[in-house]
Amino acid sequence: MNILVLGSGGREHAIALKISQSPKTSKLFVAPGNAGTASIATNIEIGVNNFGAIKKLVLDETIDLVVVGPEDPLVNGVHDFFLNDDDLQSVPVIGPQKAAAALEGSKEFAKEFMMRHHIPTAAYESFTGETLEKGHTFLETLQPPYVLKADGLAAGKGVLILENLEEAKGELKSMLKDSKFGAASATVVIEEFLDGIELSCFVLTDGTNYKILPTAKDYKRIGEGDTGLNTGGMGAISPVPFADSEFMQKIEQRIVKPTVEGLKKDNLPYVGFIFIGLIKVGEEPKVIEYNVRMGDPETEVVMPRLKSDLVEVLQAMANGTLDQINLEIDERAATTVMAVSGGYPEAYEKGKEITGTQNVQDSIVFHAGTKLSEGKIVTNGGRVLAVTSFGKDFKEALEQSYQNMEKIRFDGMYYRKDLGFDL
Ligand code: AMP
Ligand code: GLY
Repeated sequence: MNILVLGSGGREHAIALKISQSPKTSKLFVAPGNAGTASIATNIEIGVNNFGAIKKLVLDETIDLVVVGPEDPLVNGVHDFFLNDDDLQSVPVIGPQKAAAALEGSKEFAKEFMMRHHIPTAAYESFTGETLEKGHTFLETLQPPYVLKADGLAAGKGVLILENLEEAKGELKSMLKDSKFGAASATVVIEEFLDGIELSCFVLTDGTNYKILPTAKDYKRIGEGDTGLNTGGMGAISPVPFADSEFMQKIEQRIVKPTVEGLKKDNLPYVGFIFIGLIKVGEEPKVIEYNVRMGDPETEVVMPRLKSDLVEVLQAMANGTLDQINLEIDERAATTVMAVSGGYPEAYEKGKEITGTQNVQDSIVFHAGTKLSEGKIVTNGGRVLAVTSFGKDFKEALEQSYQNMEKIRFDGMYYRKDLGFDL
């Protein structure tokens, strides 16, 4: 099969690596890809939202399957674009159509979905510019901290957690009236604060059947001890030690099953990955958010633990035969540590030469923001590369990742040395 992966991060490198290892794969393309994907696939320099160029590529290279990495093209309707095009209709796309991608594209849509299907989540109300005063009154009925969420996609920055009522009222106004997050904050969801520890659950579905991938936990803050600004993710571990089989049962029965059944009941076709952001409150799982894709850097620990042939799994998703698949998972723990550019998640420089990756032993280097420039590998983003390792437990795996990370150098390189500190 000829396969195209859309995206350019560590997630796409991890997915592409699994696909490249399948005997079913003939040619593998990644668009636009990075220096890591260039070593296992053919990179094609087109953007993930350039549907016209994607069509040309799919037809020119007789692509048999498209895997969509990031949410953006899904929310913009790339799957619908294929279904509505006579030439592309027969090419399966892994990733939901636009209507279901709203689970990530609109927080209000996601909350209404959870309410309709009795899926445990934080209590909420949503407000617009017209109902700002009601929003202020609602905030007065809540206990701090106050959770304000821009309804739309805001590059991971649209959630504010505030201790002070007056500050919360001010932020609500600036989101609704002054477009703090542009059109994304024309509607704001105000939510009950949930106090607990977070984890992520990844589900594969063909729209009817589902399989649960290993759990993972990522570390979002830039600073050690979970301090400082939010990032895309500074590292991850899998499995999550506190997600024992009893807790996983609850997640499956109360959240995964009703989610997949709810999509079907609501007539929302879904072939793809569902990333369920969860929080463990006491002993109970509650949903914080849905994403309609895999997580990054969680994919860099989840995919390496998958022993099954990923292409077979993706084909079963596209064909509606996921019930016939038995997912084989590596029992070992996996961890990944992300190295980022100095200054990230604020302003940072690009184009710094990366050295030492060839000295890494018994770990996998997944490229994120990298590119090839005059035969050298250089930085090309905030999150640069992730070092993934296995171990009997997450501590052993982390030690391995940290040892190998010391062999890699680039100007301004930074990574957190405290992953797993909270477990
Ligand atoms: P989201 O973009 O919805 O995942 O929110 C970003 C982050 O804000 C989450 O990863 C949580 O750490 C935090 N968060 C979101 N909603 C809540 C909530 N209701 N209670 C506590 N923390 C929350
Ligand atoms: N690591 C969090 C995310 O992919 O959204």
